[in-house]
Amino acid sequence: MLTAEENEILCRVEGEAAMGQMMRRHWIPACMSEEVEAPDGAPVRVRLLGEDLVFFRDTKGRLGALDEYCAHRRVSLVLGRNEDCGLRCLYHGWKYDVDGNAVDLPTEPASSRLIELVRQKSYPVREGGGLVWIYMGPASAMPEFAPPVWEANPGTKISVVKMHVAANWAQVLEGSIDSAHSSLLHSTNIRPGVGGRTTQNGSGAMVRPTVDKAPRLQVQRTEYGMRYVAIRRPAENAETHDYMRITVYIAPFTALIPPNTLYSPTQLMVPMDDENTMFYFIISSEGEGMDTEAWRKYCGARVGVDLDSNFRKTRTRANNFLQDRQAMRLGDYSGIYGIPNQDMAMSETMGRSPIADRTRETLGASDIAIAQFRRMMVDAARAFAEGAPPLGTAMGRLREAKVQSYEAIVPKGTDWRRLGIGEAELALLDDDATAA
Ligand code: FES
Ligand SMILES: [Fe+2]
Repeated sequence: MLTAEENEILCRVEGEAAMGQMMRRHWIPACMSEEVEAPDGAPVRVRLLGEDLVFFRDTKGRLGALDEYCAHRRVSLVLGRNEDCGLRCLYHGWKYDVDGNAVDLPTEPASSRLIELVRQKSYPVREGGGLVWIYMGPASAMPEFAPPVWEANPGTKISVVKMHVAANWAQVLEGSIDSAHSSLLHSTNIRPGVGGRTTQNGSGAMVRPTVDKAPRLQVQRTEYGMRYVAIRRPAENAETHDYMRITVYIAPFTALIPPNTLYSPTQLMVPMDDENTMFYFIISSEGEGMDTEAWRKYCGARVGVDLDSNFRKTRTRANNFLQDRQAMRLGDYSGIYGIPNQDMAMSETMGRSPIADRTRETLGASDIAIAQFRRMMVDAARAFAEGAPPLGTAMGRLREAKVQSYEAIVPKGTDWRRLGIGEAELALLDDDATAA
């Protein structure tokens, strides 16, 4: 439970809100690279932290991120013409380059000096890990950009699902650090079985080596956020062994989900504003992994089928997420197609408001990681507002340290706090702050 005031600090990201201001100190995912692939292609509308932006790739292949609304009389540049190294507003033809400089004002007299004064607000952008990133904070505090942890090397195979969620970012994130729900909500997709690891063959259900629905959770604070373990009884050798799943939370909005035999999943909960989130569900592999089309089909996240062109779901609160009661009678647990649709159905129905009322919950033993996340982020936002550095480490360090999620069946008594980490990550752990 949080107080109403703490809930506001955790959730609000627009304007001067401390959480949003802290997020602006990080490189933020803005869209998928594939959306802005073609030079002079269609501009892309992006909403982040309550701000409306337009992204475009110019004739020379440079990426630009500008305020969506034209400096002249505020028409949307998403409708603009992307041509000859700039974005031209449809209304009176004012044109801007990727840095926001005005390069043509056709409605002004030849003698006008206005072109030297007009500027369209612009932001720095980079590409990596299948995404386009933006930095929206003060220039003096801009961290160096590095490819994200899920892109271990240039050959890493990456498939991305993108999905709009009509709910506040924090409750979507809480689904990513809530191992317990996967044994219930996703039980039709993730079935109990035997073996040493979670297996995924790419088409049917995943098989996880346990039937235990009540995992024991423990949290370990780190410099970049936290790691937590969910410990379950394995289907075999339960007397001598534990099945451990370790999730990594990288502040402010990234979760590395334990891997399976085919890929490692990453989830990003990027706040569009206080009431909407863009969810990215990314899988990466150094092996064959899963193709993008197959991944989107498996997730129920294909544009034109499951999503509209703005990545809004066809399965919504208004139609009960197309829940199939007949399928439930025949054994399907949720009646909702695809793991992310199941997750978002939960995030979008936590009360009537898109911001969950955390003063009215009843937390249980499996909510330990969620409680830690809230405490840590509320404290971090408050401290940031008073001048402390933002929580979360630049991606480059995490990548060098090979920070990753983990799952294994291990002998009972194994110290999970040292599982799945290399030497380089030791420096990022904060054992003094470890919460059991
Ligand atoms: S509103 Fe954009 S050029 Fe006039
Ligand atoms: Fe889930």
